[in-house]
Amino acid sequence: MSASLASVSYIGATILFILSLGGLSNPESSRRGNLYGIIGMTIAVLATVFGPHVTLAGLPWIIAAMVVGGSIGLYAARKVQMTQMPELVALMHSLVGLAACLVGFANYIDPMASMDLSSAERAIHEIEIYVGILIGAVTFSGSLIAFGKLSGKIGGKPLLLPGRHFLNLAGLLVVIAFGYQFLQAETPSAGMTALIVMTVIALLFGIHMVMAIGGADMPVVVSMLNSYSGWAAAATGFMLNNDLLIVTGALVGSSGAILSYIMCRAMNRNFFSVIAGGFGGGAPAKKSGEAAQPQGEVTPISATETAELLKDAKNVIIVPGYGMAVAQAQHTVNAITQVLREHGVNVRFGIHPVAGRMPGHMNVLLAEAKVPYDIVMEMDELNGDFPETDVAIVIGANDIVNPAAQEDPGSPIAGMPVLEVWKAKTSIMMKRSMATGYAGVDNPLFYKDNNRMLFGDAKKMLEEVLGALKA
Ligand code: TAP
Repeated sequence: MSASLASVSYIGATILFILSLGGLSNPESSRRGNLYGIIGMTIAVLATVFGPHVTLAGLPWIIAAMVVGGSIGLYAARKVQMTQMPELVALMHSLVGLAACLVGFANYIDPMASMDLSSAERAIHEIEIYVGILIGAVTFSGSLIAFGKLSGKIGGKPLLLPGRHFLNLAGLLVVIAFGYQFLQAETPSAGMTALIVMTVIALLFGIHMVMAIGGADMPVVVSMLNSYSGWAAAATGFMLNNDLLIVTGALVGSSGAILSYIMCRAMNRNFFSVIAGGFGGGAPAKKSGEAAQPQGEVTPISATETAELLKDAKNVIIVPGYGMAVAQAQHTVNAITQVLREHGVNVRFGIHPVAGRMPGHMNVLLAEAKVPYDIVMEMDELNGDFPETDVAIVIGANDIVNPAAQEDPGSPIAGMPVLEVWKAKTSIMMKRSMATGYAGVDNPLFYKDNNRMLFGDAKKMLEEVLGALKA
């Protein structure tokens, strides 16, 4: 493929990526957005593999690598459960970081990469390598820890080392000092030493940064790592002189940064405080899933009684959470919604920005079950309507409806906006036990006078409610 055809293909792919991001911003156009992304990526890969920078001798290697990588990707995509998606995404981010590191080291070792460069160009090339490996290493180790936390292999409690801000600052200063040494290095081996020291510090920083984040603030960190992976890809683009990789990396980097900002606002958190770590560390949080300490009496309710309450209601708000995803109860939820709407009940869904385990998690599940988009509302759109709501039914959600966020300033989730279901005439919490949610914080909602607990697997209980509604 000629260089000009490759450039035209790159421009086409870039436009498709931008259209893809635009499409993904709305559930109705998200399928189209996905399709644009797939076509753009296919063009980008073909234009790169058959482009002017790949020699015929290198082609078999690239194709072999693509077959191996593609097969692993296909296997993972088919095997992964919907509930494991965030872990998979974190793992993918770590691979982007690792790739940036490997490309950086390969570029430094390869004598051809900087052969024809002037001394100024060489300095710029070395800065690209240094910064690329730095961002890549932070992304790699940070994403691995995020993977561990999201999959429950590492506890959700923040690890707060004494003098952690000082440690971070000292690390930054050492990285700058070694960067200077790297640029001044007379021999490749001296440069390599500086590069390796910086990489180790960056890896430790990535681990430290994510370990210091408390349970409920993980979403912010995951979207931040998403942004970092974009910047790591852009840095790789600079090292390889690949314009498409620079543009694509910048798109991912900036959209991830915007998402992190939106998440911070939704969680009422300061962006920089979350990065510096230590949020979510107030009162001692439990390991997620641990049973709550008794704080009074809870009032259980049966599926039949729940159906009666729903039938008599005029206004119902359904709040789905992670448990709905685990139970795969979205189709039953939709069936109940249809029956209630046929009875003239005004049913709406309240979606918290961090419900579930990934941005838009609930929206995806409800769209899959064909719940009409116009009754699926953001938290801010209906949070004021709970006092006029007859029944608020919480399906496998916990942290996002925890009144302690408003009532207990010492709580690890204090200040986080929550759906105020306890203000409805009756709230019904559907979950299997008295266990805590992701943040490991006790939930006083269980014990409120107007709250009822419908214990059991969400899908099973909802099927019983549906049966009773139809009876
Ligand atoms: P959680 O607070 O994690 O609560 C989910 C509840 O679902 C659990 O208490 C669990 O109680 C119940 N559950 C689990 N399986 C169930 C089943 N089969 N049937 C019925 N109930 C079941 O979830 P949430 O309210 O959606 O809040 C999200 C939390 O995750 C927040 O803390 C958020 O910060 C964090 N987080 C979010 C994201 C994103 S981006 N959304 C990413 C990472 C972390 P039982 O065990 O008693 O059933």
